[in-house]
Amino acid sequence: MNKNRYIFISKSPGDTVALGSRIASQFRPNDVVALYGDLAAGKTTFTQGVCTRLHADQPATSPTFTLINEYSGDLPIFHFDCYRIKHPDEIIMLGFDEYLEKDGVVLIEWPENIAAHIPEDCLELHLSYVDDHTREIVIRSPRELEL
Ligand SMILES: Nc1ncnc2c1ncn2[C@@H]1O[C@H](COP(=O)(O)OP(=O)(O)O)[C@@H](O)[C@H]1O
Ligand SMILES: [Mg+2]
Repeated sequence: MNKNRYIFISKSPGDTVALGSRIASQFRPNDVVALYGDLAAGKTTFTQGVCTRLHADQPATSPTFTLINEYSGDLPIFHFDCYRIKHPDEIIMLGFDEYLEKDGVVLIEWPENIAAHIPEDCLELHLSYVDDHTREIVIRSPRELEL
């Protein structure tokens, strides 16, 4: 599908948090955000900005050991980390498809591990390390975004 493409250069963790906050202000119920990028690329940092903007009941933490963190806020936030998934069926067993229809926002770290289950019209972020403080973030969005 044809998506709008943006490039954002983040110069600090705070920049990445601020980006998450600005994008979160444009979310609609049932939006899905696929966060691509290596360890320490800033996927969880971005999610922290989302959680703050949506007045989540807790700050975002890495769900690496739990697979999913759920926060309530202006919209419910479902934060998946698929790093440890060996087979995509594992996430389906946890009811992944139902989370796509709960009128919340679904954020997914390591979406490549469940590639077949990522909706085509998701918002994609591709985060990459440039140097200690800098990340390049390529955004592909099905809608126009204000950054
Ligand atoms: N511009 C930046 N944006 C985001 N994180 C950054 C940036 N510069 C340095 N960092 C550091 O990189 C790490 C990112 O961690 P995290 O968000 O947990 O990554 P991931 O979830 O992708 O593994 C943090 O230690 C953060 O302080
Ligand atoms: Mg993470």
